Amino acid sequence: MNAPLKGLAMQAPSYVKNAKLIAWVADMAALCKPANIHWCDGSAEEYDRLCQLMVDAGTFKKLNPAKRPNSFLATSDPSDVARVEDRTFICSANKEDAGPTNNWMAPAEMRATLQPLFDGCMKGRTMYVVPFSMGPLGSPIAHIGIELSDSPYVAVNMKIMTRMGKAVYEVLGVDGEFVPCVHTVGAPLEAGQKDVAWPCNKTKYIVHYPETREIWSYGSGYGGNALLGKKCFALRIASNMGRDEGWLAEHMLILGVTNPQGKKYHVAAAFPSACGKTNFAMLIPPAGFEGWKVTTIGDDIAWIKPGADGKLHAINPEAGYFGVAPGTNMQTNPNCMASLDRDVIFTNVALTDDGDVWWEGMGDAPAHAIDWQGKDWTPAIAKESGAKAAHPNARFTVAAINNPALDEAWDDPKGVAIDAFIFGGRRSTTVPLVTEARNWVEGVYMAATMGSETTAAAAGQQGVVRRDPFAMLPFAGYNMSDYFQHWLDLGKKLEAAGAKVPKIYTTNWFRKGADGKFVWPGYGENMRVLKWMIDRIEGQGNGTDHVFGVSPRYEDLNWTGLDFSAAQFDTVTSIDKAAWEAELKLHSELFQQLAHHLPKELPATKAAIEQRLAA
Ligand code: OXD
Ligand code: MN
Repeated sequence: MNAPLKGLAMQAPSYVKNAKLIAWVADMAALCKPANIHWCDGSAEEYDRLCQLMVDAGTFKKLNPAKRPNSFLATSDPSDVARVEDRTFICSANKEDAGPTNNWMAPAEMRATLQPLFDGCMKGRTMYVVPFSMGPLGSPIAHIGIELSDSPYVAVNMKIMTRMGKAVYEVLGVDGEFVPCVHTVGAPLEAGQKDVAWPCNKTKYIVHYPETREIWSYGSGYGGNALLGKKCFALRIASNMGRDEGWLAEHMLILGVTNPQGKKYHVAAAFPSACGKTNFAMLIPPAGFEGWKVTTIGDDIAWIKPGADGKLHAINPEAGYFGVAPGTNMQTNPNCMASLDRDVIFTNVALTDDGDVWWEGMGDAPAHAIDWQGKDWTPAIAKESGAKAAHPNARFTVAAINNPALDEAWDDPKGVAIDAFIFGGRRSTTVPLVTEARNWVEGVYMAATMGSETTAAAAGQQGVVRRDPFAMLPFAGYNMSDYFQHWLDLGKKLEAAGAKVPKIYTTNWFRKGADGKFVWPGYGENMRVLKWMIDRIEGQGNGTDHVFGVSPRYEDLNWTGLDFSAAQFDTVTSIDKAAWEAELKLHSELFQQLAHHLPKELPATKAAIEQRLAA
């Protein structure tokens, strides 16, 4: 039995009226045995106080206010730098409901495993009660979560990443529902024990119980392992809610694109982690696209519900960006760089001698810096040892309102109506620059069979192609084949109701030439592809039909302002028969892995592609 906490520490503030919440916090406090409980109110004073507390503890360094006002640098334990997919579990009652792409353990067994780990896990620390709304407060598409965490780093990051604070309790009311999320770094402090700057535990468990909509996270303080509103709630748990309730929780950015005549379109795009989603969401149209405007609604996650008008309406459940810093610069993403001018939490980038930050790909290297592991770094050291100043998965946390390209509807409770979906992997060969699906089923096939070369966002080997259906491989909270079926069913339902379903595209910005270099310039130039999609939506763009869809010919894109030859275009769009035969074999392997409940439409689409390829 866990002894109840003594004293007033347990007292919830008077504005917290939800009995279930109060009882749950009491239970969790009895289990985790924190020294204190802090009910976060989300105020600026609280944020400042917690940041100062972390500066005093050595977790944060305050950056030079003349260079980066109100900004901080955190450097993590070197063992805690990315999402841990092999320690992430979907504990559904039945194993097949988690499916072959998720780690699974029976809920009772997992609870028995976690119980002793959580017992006393917060000793000597403060338990922060973090109330947050995923989505605009009170939106019919939004949902509430409460995270209990012993990490002040989590509390301040959640303040930026979500609508966090007192107002959530008003929406929650006396008997409103919330997703309970418990997080601990797994490093209790015995009496008199000195803390470390980044407490964490070698043992890690990121656990989801889909039926009871609970999240339990143990041992990591980093990103998606610890900021439980993001991948754990907004994707893994929300995908389950979406399946049960007829909506979609997707690993997608949402952007608005306005043409020179003022007509606006909305696109939701799924790319695997660290494939440039933030860059695409903040794209600045290049020369040749005067009068066009791209605005950001979200950079990572979309919750999409069918509206009464037959359209799919999307919100960004988040309120900030937890983006990859390395590679971000004034050429690749000027809007992002402008967003990072102030009020930022950086994690695992380098500290310059003038109290600012630097990362690989930011611009000219400083003569000297302190790297993310606290060591001296100079260009000469880097040349000799290959040492990186910033970890490849180093991040910034910044509020959406810092983004100069923020869409005026980003916080609209109704969301925005989606005109097109894009699915884009990172492939150095085989997959052409852009292809339009001829119908919803072909689009679902494209998304389901998407492959991508892995990146540093997740721990493990990098650069190998893995199938990443819908860019949801690490995030689908239930059986992947059932998830495909959910997409097919939704399309059918919309079509049966006479709705015009969004078009579906697949893109690949990452084809390489014989010299091993990227051929497509990417970034702002992706506007050329976006414009072609919009032409197609308007029934105006031309293209050529091929084995698995429709792609533009050289003459179908606007090349004003870019020197890109027909031969180069051929390198990024050619369809190589042998490569596609090999690719389709990999699709077969995926379908074998996902055979249980695999919708029959997918092998049928594959057979049709094979027939066309053979013809
Ligand atoms: C992310 C990821 O952090 O996808 O967004 O890994
Ligand atoms: Mn992501």
